[in-house]
Amino acid sequence: MDVAVIGSGLIGQAWAIVFARAGYGVRLWDGDAQARARAVELIAGQARMLVQQGLLDDADGLSARVRVCDTLAQSLEGVAYVQENLPEKPELKREIFRQMDALAAAGTVLASSTSSIPASVFTEDLPGRGRCLVAHPVNPPYLIPVVELCGAPWTDAATIEAARRIQSGAGQKPVIVHRELEGFVLNRLQGALLREAFRLVQDGTITVEDLDVTVKDGLGLRWVFMGPFETIDLNAPGGVADYCTRYGGMYASIAQEQRDCERWPDDTVHEVERQRREQLPESELLQRRLWRDQRLMSLLRHKRQAEAETPPKD
Ligand SMILES: NC(=O)c1ccc[n+]([C@@H]2O[C@H](COP(=O)([O-])OP(=O)(O)OC[C@H]3O[C@@H](n4cnc5c(N)ncnc54)[C@H](O)[C@@H]3O)[C@@H](O)[C@H]2O)c1
Repeated sequence: MDVAVIGSGLIGQAWAIVFARAGYGVRLWDGDAQARARAVELIAGQARMLVQQGLLDDADGLSARVRVCDTLAQSLEGVAYVQENLPEKPELKREIFRQMDALAAAGTVLASSTSSIPASVFTEDLPGRGRCLVAHPVNPPYLIPVVELCGAPWTDAATIEAARRIQSGAGQKPVIVHRELEGFVLNRLQGALLREAFRLVQDGTITVEDLDVTVKDGLGLRWVFMGPFETIDLNAPGGVADYCTRYGGMYASIAQEQRDCERWPDDTVHEVERQRREQLPESELLQRRLWRDQRLMSLLRHKRQAEAETPPKD
């Protein structure tokens, strides 16, 4: 099966790796010819890194499945699925979806990687609006498999199902978001945690460093394998309902203190920045991002091995 990746920046390159790694033929197009050429090099480099990490067998095979196209029309020829990755501007999304809907064969699914713009904003007037949706990845999608699928009110159920099937076939973990809302689900969860984290630093309860330890050496260890619902299901003898009976009152009481919905205060942001830069100078951010990606790769290897060793449920 062939898919198209439209826009070959950071996320477009990563999607090309996801689909080509799964054996799909990838047609890659970007409005900037230099960006297209750069992307090919960067994809090949990332593929070599995945091989070094034991997460991929054949870097050249992956690269060979990515074909760069000179025009948008060429890239859409005969593809079952399109993943669009232009910058996060509604007018750009509107225009590229208008062109893609006019050019792509009937039945081709058109998905956007947008982090925040609902599909209804850029698909409303299209004749083929029923085949459009958002498929929101987490960066980089070849290491973090969840992808949030969210249609506009007029997106066909068959479109969502086709996107789910194609993403699963590429090794991703699609989740369905059943209504349009700002930030979809992942960023809303992250926002809820960040809101409390900023508050706790702001009132002097904890340092930035210790807050991070609380998540990475506490909550986060469980969350790598279980979501929060499974976590609480296992944390009371009678399961999740028992947990809610035992601890619901405490969480309700805490929630009374968590009602504000202001922006994070500037002085708190400055304080968090000051403490972070003490731990990690700005000049070392890039190096640390590479370190993060290596850690993710090791983790992914471990998860794959653990899943292979776990007997299937009957
Ligand atoms: N970066 C992230 O962490 C992340 C995570 C999830 C989703 N997203 C979403 O992915 C999308 C792409 O983000 P990115 O970080 O890859 O951006 P990027 O700036 O790295 O890449 C955008 C690409 O689009 C091309 N482009 C710009 N205007 C164009 C036009 N009019 N026609 C054709 N090509 C054009 C550019 O040449 C560039 O290669 C955005 O919608 C963003 O919200 C990003």
